[in-house]
Amino acid sequence: MTLCWILIFLTFRFLKAEEANVEIYAQAGGKVILQRDTHGGTLKNSPNVYVNWFRGSEKTPIISKNPQGGIQGKEPRVSFLEDFSLQISPVEESDFGDFRCEQHLFTNTFNNNYKLRRVTVSKVQAVIVGETLILKSDLETSSLRYSFTVTWVQPKNPDCELDTRSTNGDISVSNVPMCASGVWTCKVQYNGREATAQTTVYVIDLAPSPSKPIYTAVKNKVNIPCSLSSEIPWTLLNESGLQGGSWTFTPQGNENQQPLLSLIVGSQAKWNVTKDAQIAVRERTLTDKNLSILQLPVSEKIRGEYTCTLVFKKKTFSRKVRVEVLQVSSSANSSLKEGQMVNLSCSLGPHTISPEVNWMCRSCSTHPFLRSTPQPANLFFPVRMEDNGEWRCELWNKKEKLTFVKFSLKVEKVPVDIWVCVAISSGVVVFILLLVVIIICIRRHKQMVMYRRRKTKFCCCKSPQPKGFYKT
Ligand SMILES: *[C@@H]1O[C@H](CO)[C@@H](O)[C@H](O)[C@H]1NC(C)=O
Ligand SMILES: *[C@@H]1O[C@H](CO)[C@@H](O)[C@H](O)[C@H]1NC(C)=O
Ligand SMILES: *[C@@H]1O[C@H](CO)[C@@H](O)[C@H](O)[C@H]1NC(C)=O
Repeated sequence: MTLCWILIFLTFRFLKAEEANVEIYAQAGGKVILQRDTHGGTLKNSPNVYVNWFRGSEKTPIISKNPQGGIQGKEPRVSFLEDFSLQISPVEESDFGDFRCEQHLFTNTFNNNYKLRRVTVSKVQAVIVGETLILKSDLETSSLRYSFTVTWVQPKNPDCELDTRSTNGDISVSNVPMCASGVWTCKVQYNGREATAQTTVYVIDLAPSPSKPIYTAVKNKVNIPCSLSSEIPWTLLNESGLQGGSWTFTPQGNENQQPLLSLIVGSQAKWNVTKDAQIAVRERTLTDKNLSILQLPVSEKIRGEYTCTLVFKKKTFSRKVRVEVLQVSSSANSSLKEGQMVNLSCSLGPHTISPEVNWMCRSCSTHPFLRSTPQPANLFFPVRMEDNGEWRCELWNKKEKLTFVKFSLKVEKVPVDIWVCVAISSGVVVFILLLVVIIICIRRHKQMVMYRRRKTKFCCCKSPQPKGFYKT
């Protein structure tokens, strides 16, 4: 009879030991704290307490503390809080189950049993903007018959009004906007405790097109932007029914849309060059949200409108980007002679009205036609030596410089040998003139002499000189 009582007592103790005092809910991958029981404060601050935490029915503690302050742990995921409560981070699947905290103070032993139970929420998901987002939570059944309150907390994005509906721990968001993307938190309240579980939601959309055209200039390289509005893993896009995509181009002053790139989805997402692409685009593997055409060499041929498209089973997204190219054309294809007329024009092409241009050069301040505002986009003038050198044509819109083109004018002096010719021939002319003058002078002089002689002869006859003057 006594033996029977002892057996019953032992069985009861054993059962009691196995039965959990508390159930704690946590998410795999999250963090959980199993609070140490101080048994009404008896064990609160006593340094003489031994604390041993065991997993399931294991014989060695996963972490323990002795009165000397020694702490022994087996796993880096498992640690003590200041009050020797147990912390597990991150929680792994194998953790869901029983834990035991065994404490000793002198000859007394205190046991507490815990059960770690699962909170599961919808896995990371991507949803197309405007569709309905549904997030679900699932709680492992409580054997202690806890009652639960589940609330979902949306990501902390400013000004995000959502049209939500909650039922039984699930939430649905209809007409989902971009701002619903981020980390959603499921809060589970039970038995005076709270557990949280998180999941990430990606809302699929393309970032808006640039509001203004992209201004660039010949000889540059340009990126034509297109981007997903958030950093979504490509595998999620694939799971969301991504079927393909493209870049097309409509040249300025032309209605024909030409294909440039097509999106290949598969183990890798890639822009493939379309067979008869008219523009020097390159193939590119996509690794992030950036779908842009990169490093496109700029020439007047790339003027026009570009369209970036992503095709999903349920929806097609597309964005347009206009590209304007500034170009200077000059009537001089090589060097100019001083005084020669030159025709310079700076424009965005024949189909676009150019905004203001601004010419810059060393001698520009002395060109009367460059003093006006706005400056003329066409210049026609005789070049001077000081116009030789670097020139720039800048494109402005009000106070903003959009782009610029650099070029140089080569002005040469009129060649020296022409001057030599001119000098020599004018020398010759002068010499001949001098000769003529001299000859004329000589001839006139001779005539004068002759005339005088004749006159003297006649004089001799009329008035003979006195004899005394001659030494005869
Ligand atoms: C992409 O999704 C399709 C089904 O939508 C699937 O067959 C394919 O294996 C997926 N590819 C990758 C790389 O995940
Ligand atoms: C895409 O990549 C290019 C080159 O790295 C960069 O200049 C551009 O800012 C990126 N665009 C976006 C939207 O991230
Ligand atoms: C200068 O060139 C532009 C185009 O290149 C042309 O339209 C214009 O008539 C030319 N002007 C003169 C004065 O030659």
